[in-house]
Amino acid sequence: MLSAISIAKRMPHDFILGVATSSWQIEGSSHSRGRSIWDDFAEITGYVKDGANVDPACDHLNKWREDLNLIKELGFNAYRLSISWPRILPDGTGNINVAGLNFYDKLIDRLLELKIKPVLTIYHWDLPSKLQDLGGWESPQTVDAFTEYTEVLANKFADRVDRWATLNEPWCPAFLGYSTKIHAPALGKPGAGFTAAYYQMLAHARAVAVLRSKKAQNIGTVLNLFPVLTNSTEVEEAVMHIDGVQNRLFLDPLAGRGIPQDVIERTLDLNDWKFINDSEVKEMSAKIDWLGVNYYTVMRIDSINKQFEGETLGQDAGAFPGTPAIKFTPQEPRTQMGWEVNSEGLTETLKITSERLPGVPLFVTENGSAYPDSLINGEIKDIKRTEYFANHISATLDAIDQGVDVRGYFAWSLLDNLEWAEGWSKRFGIVHVDPVTQVRTQKNSAKFLQEISKSR
Ligand code: BGC
Repeated sequence: MLSAISIAKRMPHDFILGVATSSWQIEGSSHSRGRSIWDDFAEITGYVKDGANVDPACDHLNKWREDLNLIKELGFNAYRLSISWPRILPDGTGNINVAGLNFYDKLIDRLLELKIKPVLTIYHWDLPSKLQDLGGWESPQTVDAFTEYTEVLANKFADRVDRWATLNEPWCPAFLGYSTKIHAPALGKPGAGFTAAYYQMLAHARAVAVLRSKKAQNIGTVLNLFPVLTNSTEVEEAVMHIDGVQNRLFLDPLAGRGIPQDVIERTLDLNDWKFINDSEVKEMSAKIDWLGVNYYTVMRIDSINKQFEGETLGQDAGAFPGTPAIKFTPQEPRTQMGWEVNSEGLTETLKITSERLPGVPLFVTENGSAYPDSLINGEIKDIKRTEYFANHISATLDAIDQGVDVRGYFAWSLLDNLEWAEGWSKRFGIVHVDPVTQVRTQKNSAKFLQEISKSR
């Protein structure tokens, strides 16, 4: 395995090495905020695998000081967190929950005291339920609500936040939540994902404008981008379509190329796309100061006739509506999510993204892996997770060597947390959390990342 010292030596001196979390996955204390679509989802039997409950999650609302000290101790110089929309605006718009706003206010101040840069994600999937009742991301009303919510955050935090991300991975709510029922709000309407993607991108654009007007610094967004690979000659159109739905649907409007025509044409029987408005699409190309890339794996596909066994979570043809029939066939080694471990894919993704969105500095805003862990005598020897980090940080540095402007890397995730529909059953944390006692135990991967920080 690559040593921490050899990785540290290759890191540019101003490179950001951070760690990331999201509100619904760690906060708990749902009684002190409004309801979100993920609270509704978790209450439906069978939707969250092990029936995990949103409370207390990692009880971060009470344990946040301890958690920030951990980030400091591990040597990270940035922390990417998300704000819970229903904790700020319990109904999505209107009344502000001052206690919620004050919680993040104290947290941001403490990060600054600890000399850790606060990186804020405005929306990481926990949409207020009241907005879902009005159509959620299928409705332009949600765009207006998001603009109002962004303004509340900007008024309070623009002077102190180092970096803003409007959205986290708009692909996931759209295609796992609207097209399929893998995530909240579990609509299962194939064509609806495209409408939800469109209105999220419009919400992003409007948020950029609000943040600019409030003089916020470093405004960007976060996408989950993956190369689409195949060993077959029979699935060329599917490769193009999946790349279109996963990557180009979001990158093209940001880059001013509009909504990819080939994706529209392949899906006209699922969605009439009548919502497209040229001036809105133009808004989506508003200048951003940086782009976050969340990378976990590659999308490897093959012909439908290929024999393939095993789970491939989230890699489901239904999440790419309009694709010609294919099968996902990730190769070994794979993580507990069933995802292929492929660090070269990260270098490739960063290279392609910098070509597709030229001139915009990139960050790896999430990268990590789930493996079963065993806590023995107070120690977790998570060798595979450690190796995964070593290889992927190194792959990020390879992209820099090849001329890509990558400014930082955030490990996913600080804590074992509620892995959405997988509940507690899949653990991405570098710190183990006991869901009953809430005791935090650093895994060996955390110590490895700490060693990188210390050796810089
Ligand atoms: C999400 C995280 C999630 C991680 C692992 C990303 O898609 O942003 O919230 O836990 O993947 O599945």
